[in-house]
Amino acid sequence: MAAETSNKAAYLHKAGEPLKVGDAPMPKAGPTEMVIRNGAIAINPVDTHMQQAGVFIQEWPAIFGCDVAGEVHEIGSEVAAEGRFKVGDRVIGHTINLTTGRSQDGAFALYSVVQSAKAAILPSTIPFTEGVVVPFALEAAICALSVTEPGVALPGVPTPALGLPYPTLDSAKPLGKVLIVYGGSSSVGSMTTQLAFAAGIKVVSVSGSHNFDLVKRCGASEVFDRDDPELVEKLIAAVAKAAGEDDAEFVGIFDAVCSPETYAHDLAVLARLGGGHLACVHPPPAEGVPENVKAGMIFAVNDVATPVWKEYVTPALERGKLQCLPPPTVVGKGLEFVQTALEKCVAGVSATKLVVEL
Ligand SMILES: NC(=O)c1ccc[n+]([C@@H]2O[C@H](COP(=O)([O-])OP(=O)(O)OC[C@H]3O[C@@H](n4cnc5c(N)ncnc54)[C@H](OP(=O)(O)O)[C@@H]3O)[C@@H](O)[C@H]2O)c1
Repeated sequence: MAAETSNKAAYLHKAGEPLKVGDAPMPKAGPTEMVIRNGAIAINPVDTHMQQAGVFIQEWPAIFGCDVAGEVHEIGSEVAAEGRFKVGDRVIGHTINLTTGRSQDGAFALYSVVQSAKAAILPSTIPFTEGVVVPFALEAAICALSVTEPGVALPGVPTPALGLPYPTLDSAKPLGKVLIVYGGSSSVGSMTTQLAFAAGIKVVSVSGSHNFDLVKRCGASEVFDRDDPELVEKLIAAVAKAAGEDDAEFVGIFDAVCSPETYAHDLAVLARLGGGHLACVHPPPAEGVPENVKAGMIFAVNDVATPVWKEYVTPALERGKLQCLPPPTVVGKGLEFVQTALEKCVAGVSATKLVVEL
């Protein structure tokens, strides 16, 4: 990787405008932080909302973006004392500008700050452009699966609290639980499927029929076509089958899409299966949620993910247990391509993560 001596970033100067590449201050690592020289960054749907409407932006001009892969350039004092990382290590990390608002915590730059608790060593066999699909989706998946007490996602909107165990590196024993993942080929849905499977949870999923192979690769035991007119009946039958075969208890639904159509299907399935959790990526349905359904919205910056970052990610990547899926589509090389990638994200993707190489 070319060693730059100064920083540059793709800046948003005003909501709705295209990003412009310009000089940026060189970040400095605080005690628990690292500065990463980014080799690749990934685009998430939230980035498009930040660009178009300025949501979550606290500092102008803004640098945002949640996913980086690159080399450690500088480490803070506590990171050095902990010994997990050193300068020169290849890492992936979740940049949390979304909550801190600081521009140096945004991914769309040559150098970004990452909390060491939201980073892991990337095995040498995995290119930055592949590893970078993992971080934000991983944290979202853990927030969907393993939060134990409801928190606050947005004012008046609780987080879901499914309280499911973390993934394990060994072959997970069947946990006797079945979860529906709606949107199994999406970045967040496929990662949730991988982590749930690695925790011993049976996953029944919904995706486009052209993505069934990918969803199965992530560990779903069954996957149904999003356009199947019998979808609700088939999901109910699949959950009943899992209950019959493995004595599996129905946990609920993780809806990684959250459209009026998916909400209607969610509520129909939950009504027939006696209720359960409805974990959403956006605010849950405003009406029609019965009392036996615990509905909430994930907020994917949460310390609940720390043990997974510290103990699971690197060995799981090494063993192929955690796969860099959905596969990346590299939009281009250089910060100028972040804008193009944002536009492609708005147009919509199927079973891929948009990535910019640096
Ligand atoms: N609240 C949070 O903290 C948080 C965190 C992360 C993401 N999010 C939100 O979560 C959503 C997903 O993010 P992402 O990055 O995973 O998105 P993504 O990968 O860009 O989503 C694209 C996928 O959505 C699938 N899809 C669309 N409509 C579907 C339907 N009706 N049924 C089944 N699958 C459907 C498509 O599947 P097929 O091509 O197979 O049809 C496609 O693969 C976004 O709205 C994002 O803003 C929220």
